[in-house]
Amino acid sequence: MKTNPFGQQGWTPDRIENLKGKTYVVTGANTGAGFEASKILLRKGAAVIMLNRSEQKSEAAIAELKEELGANTKVSFTKMDLSDLSSVRKAAEHLNQNVPKMDALLCNAAIAQVPKQTFTADGFESQLGVNHYGHFLLCGMLFEKLESSQGRIVVVGSEGYKMGLKTMQFDDMNWDHNYHPMNTYCHSKLAQIMFAYELQDRIKTANQQVQVYVCHPGASATSLIKNSGSLKDRILFGLMSLTPLVQSAQKGAYPEVMCATEITANLNQKAYYGPTGTMQWTGPVGECKLEPHAQDKAVAVKLWSVSEKETDFKWND
Ligand SMILES: NC(=O)c1ccc[n+]([C@@H]2O[C@H](COP(=O)([O-])OP(=O)(O)OC[C@H]3O[C@@H](n4cnc5c(N)ncnc54)[C@H](OP(=O)(O)O)[C@@H]3O)[C@@H](O)[C@H]2O)c1
Repeated sequence: MKTNPFGQQGWTPDRIENLKGKTYVVTGANTGAGFEASKILLRKGAAVIMLNRSEQKSEAAIAELKEELGANTKVSFTKMDLSDLSSVRKAAEHLNQNVPKMDALLCNAAIAQVPKQTFTADGFESQLGVNHYGHFLLCGMLFEKLESSQGRIVVVGSEGYKMGLKTMQFDDMNWDHNYHPMNTYCHSKLAQIMFAYELQDRIKTANQQVQVYVCHPGASATSLIKNSGSLKDRILFGLMSLTPLVQSAQKGAYPEVMCATEITANLNQKAYYGPTGTMQWTGPVGECKLEPHAQDKAVAVKLWSVSEKETDFKWND
């Protein structure tokens, strides 16, 4: 294991000095790690635009943030449902027209361990549709804005990428034959990670500037399983959350905030950042071990073309 460049305690938000004048866009920011990431960014003076699916939950989250950080806190909300590509398009168009500069897009939102095969509005298996295809389209549509801002894309992955199939199931992306709540979630998180590393290569080839980072929150006490998992998984994760195997949602937010803001240390885009303690579930934030299948070039290239076709979005058009 490499020595942690941020010291024994790992990366913490104390490293951020001042984010005044910077704008961050965070998907799924009304709760969990996205909410905590937004709070850290706002506390340092940044503006945060939340891309959430629920108006009601967004208003409650904004009220809570303003209560804690002050009425002038620069937090706003744009409605976006990742399970409906027309909603993603609409939100991205709105941001492109109304946000002059975007310092980073944090692809944080997700659903997980959905008990039964369900579909998005566009007919995709829901976890792949929300977690990967929705973000693929969003990143593509906001790319020019991020490029002109010399901004970053942060992809929030999961240790789940190394569970399940460990590759893309190209002959059955909707899992019609072998749907499994966990394996299918892992498939979607692996897709997100593979997309990120492939995007880095394409940016380099095109001589563009956007930096893309990949991280994960370890095991964090958020509403992820409570929101989309089965009763059994909710009880299991609830019990686990009472043990030191699970950390706070705030700690779970550190890796994505680090990837969005760290400027002094030279972060490595090909790395994978997150908690470095027990099983990489908790502990000091730093560089984690990455399994080679996450950077399988042939699979990533094929995933890219499948994603362009399914979302009907060509990156360079
Ligand atoms: N918590 C963990 O232990 C853990 C472990 C590994 C990876 N992760 C990853 O960490 C990230 C953050 O998750 P979390 O743990 O903080 O979960 P969370 O508390 O459930 O937050 C997820 C967020 O995503 C939003 N979301 C879900 N479906 C959406 C959709 N269709 N359109 C727009 N937003 C949607 C949720 O909105 P609603 O409130 O409306 O549902 C919520 O704001 C995810 O990428 C997850 O895969 C978490």
